[in-house]
Amino acid sequence: MSKPVTAIYPGSFDPVTNGHLDLIARGATIFDQLIVAVAQNLEKEPLFTVKERVEMLEAVTFEWKNVEVEVFDGLLMDYARSHGASVVMRGIRAVSDYEYELQMAMMNRKIEPDIETVFMLPAEAYSYLSSRLVKELARLGGPVKDLVPPLVVERLRAKVG
Ligand code: PNS
Repeated sequence: MSKPVTAIYPGSFDPVTNGHLDLIARGATIFDQLIVAVAQNLEKEPLFTVKERVEMLEAVTFEWKNVEVEVFDGLLMDYARSHGASVVMRGIRAVSDYEYELQMAMMNRKIEPDIETVFMLPAEAYSYLSSRLVKELARLGGPVKDLVPPLVVERLRAKVG
């Protein structure tokens, strides 16, 4: 019997969007276990604290029994290794994502050659969606209701609206 595959889906998730959820749904059907790993220390100043980001993710991924949400700090490859993960899952929306993702995947492979980065494509409807644009829309009073889960709409309203 082949070994169960644990995949890590790392990111800022500031906040989680419908695009992230689309990828989580796809990942949860492919991998035996999917750990959504929320980066604690970001170069950019996050809108939501790590606790808030995790809370929102836990609430919206509740239905998937093989999905867990955790916080990680430090090197992603150390974290992945310590969880016995063999895959890092990342989403690629447009060609513009590719360069940054390629650099990161290659650097991660150099650090840990046994862990593969698997790129996944979100549904076309989410190919333009990013947490950054969602925050900008929310700050300016634009419509975010089709872009993020209802809980996140509320949290955004409470934070910036
Ligand atoms: O959602 P993001 O902001 O694109 O996620 C980026 C993230 C958190 C996955 C990336 O910055 C990361 O892996 N940080 C952890 C530190 C690390 O391992 N850096 C070396 C990567 S080449």
